[in-house]
Amino acid sequence: MEGLRLIDTGTNLTIAAQQERGEQVRNPVESPAFKAENRIVLDVTNMFDAPGPGSIRRSDVEMLIPDVVKAHRMLRNGEGDIYDHDIPMTGWQDLPAQITESCLAEIASVAGDLGKEIDAYVSLGIGGSYLGIEATFKALTHTYFNQLTRDERGGAPEIYFLGQNMDPDFFRDTLDMLQGKRIAVNVISKSGTTTETAVAFRIIRKLMEENWGNEADRLILVTTDRTRGALKEMAGERGYRTFVVPDDIGGRFSVLTDVGLVGLAMANIDIQEFVAGFRTMRDIASVDDFWRNPALVHAAMRHAAWRAGKKIEVVATNAVPLYSAARWMEQLFPESEGHEGHGMWVTPSLYSEKLHANGQMVQEGERNIMETFLFLRSHDNQVRIPRADNNLDGLDFLVEKGMDMNAVNRMVIEGPAYAHHQGGVPNMTLEIPRRNAFNLGQLYYMMETSVAISGYLLGHNPFIQPGVEAYKRAMFALIEKPGFEQAAQDIQKRLKEREKIRI
Ligand code: PA5
Repeated sequence: MEGLRLIDTGTNLTIAAQQERGEQVRNPVESPAFKAENRIVLDVTNMFDAPGPGSIRRSDVEMLIPDVVKAHRMLRNGEGDIYDHDIPMTGWQDLPAQITESCLAEIASVAGDLGKEIDAYVSLGIGGSYLGIEATFKALTHTYFNQLTRDERGGAPEIYFLGQNMDPDFFRDTLDMLQGKRIAVNVISKSGTTTETAVAFRIIRKLMEENWGNEADRLILVTTDRTRGALKEMAGERGYRTFVVPDDIGGRFSVLTDVGLVGLAMANIDIQEFVAGFRTMRDIASVDDFWRNPALVHAAMRHAAWRAGKKIEVVATNAVPLYSAARWMEQLFPESEGHEGHGMWVTPSLYSEKLHANGQMVQEGERNIMETFLFLRSHDNQVRIPRADNNLDGLDFLVEKGMDMNAVNRMVIEGPAYAHHQGGVPNMTLEIPRRNAFNLGQLYYMMETSVAISGYLLGHNPFIQPGVEAYKRAMFALIEKPGFEQAAQDIQKRLKEREKIRI
């Protein structure tokens, strides 16, 4: 039997876009027409008046406006509870305006030169040193990027992520994918001491040195603090090329710094366009006129929902490539809001898939849920639905109405938006016009501003994560890291005191 041929399917336009990026074809980001077509829209119609407990009225939100506007002013002026170790953590606000062309050109040139030499690029990091890069990469590239030919990838190397967990099988499987390939690695850690990243780096570095000796040093990039930390020191000793995580920008706000830009440039993603998206939303979100500022409205809606008893935010998308952006939001919001018993649990979701699983809970479970849709308006590709000779599934009507898979996929959001609202779940939609770096940049800046405002409304600092530090300390103690002996003893004592219940 011969293998399957794709008949009548045309070119995959995601691959075409990758190839164009490889040839440095750029979107006209400065043109008013492009800007008009690529404007993220926030639709909050369904946030109001959902029946049942915890319904939100427009007046609930109107009441919040003075506080939201005040919070916005404080944020812009660098006032309030925004410090981490005496540093105001709001550097991400002006970063889009401060990034220079020469800085972007240098990153693109390093990535371009190194990318040509290697078969695979491995990004090592966790949390904010991982999620934004993967989210942007996945949003803009082919689902099976690494299985495509180099030409189909637009000349980019394969891209892998490690250090985001401690699963030995996952690690080993990824190593198998790297076998026989020329690789470069970028180890990303602001603190330079995160265990998952450090362990992954040890293993990869050893392998690289065993294979290529001192030549490995040229293939190792380090993204870390400008002056301090273990990675900075090691980079100094070995002469690794370094990139910087600025002091005043925390991990989950760092996708527009070197943390994100180097890996994205390696995948041929247009980082200038990415910056332009951030700049555009920065302008839009600079006004105090509440109903004209989507970041402020977004923050107020979520806060009103939380006050009305909504403790879970389902962030659902109809686009597989945007699922990772929902995962980025799963970090940004809970890590920033989850203090002092506050905050909403954010759960990323892919529709239709999840409509056939926890969709039942969303429709009819406890009414403590709100929903945010990441709705991709226009996919790269169009998939026609063919006529069937027997029409046993009764779907020929779709063909008669000229509906393709794209048209049905719209309803995967519009249907639940209506039904869930009727079932008592307030919901809002972020309409993302197309898959491009410009739109991703807008989305990120809007969400970063929204979560910062949320911190003011909740009354605590959204730029620190003491809870994450607590798990790190417990893990260090349990693996008996030197310096954590006392903590280890305390934990072991408490664990022994507890009655073991194992069935
Ligand atoms: O948002 C954050 O600050 C965290 O999620 C960090 O990014 C994460 O803990 C990784 O830290 P580091 O970059 O220091 O390895």
